[in-house]
Amino acid sequence: MARAAVVCGLGTHLPSRVVGNDHLARELDTSDEWIRSRTGIGQRHLADPGQATSDLAVEAGQRALKSASSGAGQDGADAVVLATTTPDHPCPATAPLVASRLGLGTVPAFDVAAVCTGFLYGLAAGAGLIATGTADSVLVVGAETYSSILDPADRSTRAIFGDGAGAVVLRAGEPDEPGALGPMVLGSDGTGSELIQVPSGGSRDPFRAENADRADPFFRMAGRQVFRNAVERMAEAVTEAAARAGWRPEGVDVLVAHQANVRIIQAVADQLGLPRERFPVHLDRVGNTSAASIPLALADAVTAGALRPGHKTALAAFGGGLTWGAVTMTWPRVAPA
Ligand code: UT7
Repeated sequence: MARAAVVCGLGTHLPSRVVGNDHLARELDTSDEWIRSRTGIGQRHLADPGQATSDLAVEAGQRALKSASSGAGQDGADAVVLATTTPDHPCPATAPLVASRLGLGTVPAFDVAAVCTGFLYGLAAGAGLIATGTADSVLVVGAETYSSILDPADRSTRAIFGDGAGAVVLRAGEPDEPGALGPMVLGSDGTGSELIQVPSGGSRDPFRAENADRADPFFRMAGRQVFRNAVERMAEAVTEAAARAGWRPEGVDVLVAHQANVRIIQAVADQLGLPRERFPVHLDRVGNTSAASIPLALADAVTAGALRPGHKTALAAFGGGLTWGAVTMTWPRVAPA
């Protein structure tokens, strides 16, 4: 049987600048009441000018490595996978820089681009490196600075997204031990690629003098359509991941869903017929941090005592691409450093 990937470390980092809804309402045609009632978000953390995704990723990575070393005696990592929508540069990947800044030397390091599902795709990549024997341990980071790609005039995205980073360390282990990732359910639907998009700056519409007046370098989202898809796909993915793990969906103790909108999280709970209390909510304090949201929510749930060793745990995400995914594990004795 293939070697399992076992979660053995957890760490996070949020930039220090906190921006509340009232602050946004002073700049945009919005209000604290609208943002809270439509999304559940009360504030978000934003990077300072000059602070890039790698800066947040290194902080979270350091803490995850510390957590793995003090908890499981796992020192360092043999590979780095960085899930991000907001790399430091379009080229090269940001992961090699993160690996070297963490002192991990010349380990394999690459980025994964699956927008808000990036962390789950990153876990799948990390588990694959372990299963094939390419690595015995992998640092999987989700890190974002969405503030660098949001249109300052777009209230529908600025109200939602925040910056941050979270990371886990995976080590090789046995499929039946706590922390071992179950079979991953991942999906994509490129017919919806325009629903979440940065229209310009890629090969389809490169920045050139000729298109300078109409190029759109900002993140765009068709919120309402994305909302519907997110609920259906996450509920389906969790049902399938639970079935593949031999669990009934109602057997899930804690479901850490991508923190996009509290109404999406509640709708997934309702669709699965699970009590909403089993779905930790972190977005009220950090907004939607895309690829960073699941490790940030995991750490918050552990710290709050809502996620404890032995809990049957599912992770679920949905994002641009479109992409989605879910995975199960029994939560191990791991705490954020
Ligand atoms: O992270 C992974 C992918 N992302 C998601 O999963 C996000 C999914 N979508 C959502 O969370 C919600 O669709 C939003 C929070 C983005 C929007 O909420 P909604 O209830 O779906 O609103 P809507 O987009 O249907 O817009 C309703 C109205 C519009 O005005 P009109 O056209 O009815 O006059 C918007 O312009 O609300 C307006 N609106 C706002 N008003 C005040 C949009 N954003 C704001 C705002 N403040 N910040």
